[in-house]
Parts: sequence; structure tokens; C-alpha cells
Amino acid sequence: MDISVAGTGYVGLVTGVCLASRGHKVTCVETDRQKLAALRAGEPPIFEPGLRALMAESAANLTFTDDYAGAYKNAEVIFISVGTPERGDGYANLKYVYDAAEQIAASAESGCTVVMKSTVPMGTCEKLEKFFACHAGENVRIDVASNPEFLSQGTAVRDFLNEQRLVFGVRSASAEKVLRAVYAGFTKPVIVTDPQTAEMIKYASNNFLALKISFINEIANICELVGADVDTVSYGMGLDKRIGEKFLRAGIGYGGSCFPKDTLALHWLAKYHDYELKTVKAAIEVNENQRIRLIKKLRKYHKSVEGLRVAVLGLTFKPGTDDLREAPSVMNINILLEEGAAVTVWDPVAVPRVKAMFGDQVGYADTIERAVEGTDACLVLTEWEEIKNFDLKKFKHLMKTPLILDGRNCFDLRAAAEAGITYDSIGRKR
Ligand code: UGA
Repeated sequence: MDISVAGTGYVGLVTGVCLASRGHKVTCVETDRQKLAALRAGEPPIFEPGLRALMAESAANLTFTDDYAGAYKNAEVIFISVGTPERGDGYANLKYVYDAAEQIAASAESGCTVVMKSTVPMGTCEKLEKFFACHAGENVRIDVASNPEFLSQGTAVRDFLNEQRLVFGVRSASAEKVLRAVYAGFTKPVIVTDPQTAEMIKYASNNFLALKISFINEIANICELVGADVDTVSYGMGLDKRIGEKFLRAGIGYGGSCFPKDTLALHWLAKYHDYELKTVKAAIEVNENQRIRLIKKLRKYHKSVEGLRVAVLGLTFKPGTDDLREAPSVMNINILLEEGAAVTVWDPVAVPRVKAMFGDQVGYADTIERAVEGTDACLVLTEWEEIKNFDLKKFKHLMKTPLILDGRNCFDLRAAAEAGITYDSIGRKR
């Protein structure tokens, strides 16, 4: 099929590349010149394992262009996978979705199916269909379908190729037929429903996962008070298939471009309809507090943060990505700097992005050893393998005061004690 993709963020690019790998002719639209040049040179502008290799393998089926009119003119299917960031008041900002819709309406010369991949509030696909009915060319029928993505950064390629389910939110048999043809060869369960329900499946899934994380984080906080071990609690809970083991890892809260935005969007959408989503509101509040949990712990060990030398290990919102959006590291570094600490950071991939944010306000170390040398405390914020495998004895040897505050439970309690480290993690005994 001839498929075009609007937006080459991690969802759009992964979608385009994976569909090209399945034999479709895919044109990805990118108007940023630098990004376009990189894409044309086979270089993904995002760090996503497996993506570059699959891009190279599928090059014969992939085109990158800034000529959106040419890309949309005769495409059979157009995916919209642009950002829907938080607008500042909690609602999702649909500006980029409508920018793409306007370009499609102005360019499409034959009927096509526009497939919404971006996470959008319920009712958006229906509104878009009306928009196209008014703005597309004469006799150009544009169907709109919702096909939410369930890709996680860091495993997006694998997730796409092995989707656990496909959701088709359609209003016509022809749109369903088109989506079935796009995903021919994928053998996963397909849920065919209306667009609103499809849009809600996406929001409800992300919100439920966020709830699960906030729940286990609260349990972790109580574990600390009563002397229980949250990792064992998670394990014990997770063996119950009704609960499931996933997303029960306690830590310093969820970050990234999805959960924080999608919990707020659903919360405010409910408010708009005069309904309070109490569970989601609680998840958001718990997460806000959890993100500064390590700073609170730090204050237990040092009366004042002022003048302390602090190492921050791990900056991205999770391992396997260079994304800093809503990463707990940003908030934690800001607080440490405001309170007068000298901060040195280490991360295997995110340092260039952090430099753009913090400039010379923090020190940058190219090894964990250099980051922790001479420090009074070390905060672990991302569970990178390099950190998990780091020899604990080196902390004792290199740090001025061997205090590790671990927001991702990377180390074994006994090993930390044996190494002579003061080790305080999330929801575990000290
Ligand atoms: C999330 C969803 O998992 C995807 O299914 C969804 O498609 C995507 O959002 C999206 O809407 O585009 P992502 O944000 O990439 O994916 O990352 P996750 O693996 O879900 O992690 C999100 C945050 O939760 C991270 O900060 C992670 O550290 C945290 N987390 C995750 C925990 O604190 N504990 C856990 O047990 C799991």
C-alpha cells in the first residue's frame, strides 16, 4: 500500500519504518531540515534500539520528504503521529494534529483513510472527519480511523512488530478493510470498535498503568514505615494473574512524554464533563510527591543541602532512551541547585541534552567513577545497566561520604551493607 506518515517522532518514525519493513511503500513527512537530512542519511533523530538497523533494511520502501503535498496527494493511508503535548492547563494541545489535517485536506486529490496514531481526547476523530468533509477537495472522501499505539520508548520497534493487540476505531466497513490491509500479516487480536472507544482504550490503558505505579509507590512508602520490603511485596502480588507482575516496580515515580500528560488530560477531560476522576487525581498527586522522595531522604542525612557535593546517576525518564521529558532528574537537579548543592551528573546517552538545559550549572562526568569521586551523596534516578553493574565497593572508596539514595532499587541491600555504604532505597529496609 502507499502509506504516508505525518510526524517522525518516536511513534511516527517507528510506525513508518516497521510498516516499510512489512512491504508497504512509506513516505514520512518531516519539515525540520536538520532532521530530514539526518533521516535521509539513515540516521534516526531519536535513540531507539533496533530502529537504525530496520531503517537500513527497509530503505527501498522508505522515503523522507518535506513535500507534504506530494506525500498526501495520492496516499491510500495517512497516519497522523504528531505530538499532542500538554497545553499548560492540563488539556491536550491539538494544534499539530490540526496543522497536519489542514495540509492533508489541502493536498489529497483522491479518497484516503487518515489514521490517528497520536493520543487524542475522545471525540477528536469524529471532529476531524467533519473537518475533512468541509475542507477536503470536491469528491475527495476522507475517512478517519483511530488506531492508538501502545509502544514504549526503548522497546518501540519490538512492541510494534509484536503488538499485543490492535485497536481499530472506525465508522465504516471500508476504513476497517483498509486497516486490516495495513496490518495484514500481524496475527494479534484485533478490537474493532468506534473511534471514541478506541481513543478511550488508549487513555484508560496509560492511566491504569500510571495508577498501578502510584499505588505501588504508596505501598513502598508504607513499607518503609513498617519495615517491609516492597520488591518482595510486588513479586508476591504479581504472581496473582489478576494483578500481573508488570508496572509494579516502586521508584521515584513515572516520567516521560506519556503518563504525566495523559493522566492530566483524562483528569481535565473528566472535569470538563463535570466529573471528578478521583483515582487518577490521586495517582497524579502521589507521583508529584514521589519525584522528590530522594531529596526528602537526603535532608534526613544532611541538615542542609547547601555546599554538598552531590552526584546524580541516570538522567533519562527510564533506561533505553535519551528522552528527558518529565524525567525526575530535571526536577531533582533544579532543587539541588536552588538549595546550593554542587551537582555532577552521569548518564550514558543524555548528557548532550542535559548540557543544553543546565549549561555550566552542573558538572558532567564521562564515567560513574568521576561522577561520584569526592561527593557527599549520590542519587540514582535511572536504572541503567551500567549503574546496576557498578562495583559497590568503588562508591565506598571514591565518595567522601558513601551515601547512596537509590530511586530505582538498583542494588542488593546486603551487598550495599557489606560494602560499607549507607544505602537508602525505595520501600526497602535500611
Ligand atoms: C508508555 C506506555 O507504557 C506505552 O504502552 C504507551 O504506548 C506510551 O506510554 C505512549 O503513550 O506513547 P513509555 O512512556 O515509553 O510508554 O514508558 P514506560 O515503560 O511505560 O515507563 C513510563 C514511566 O513509568 C517511566 O518513568 C518508568 O520508569 C516508570 N515505571 C514503569 C515505574 O516507575 N515503574 C514500573 O513498574 C514501570
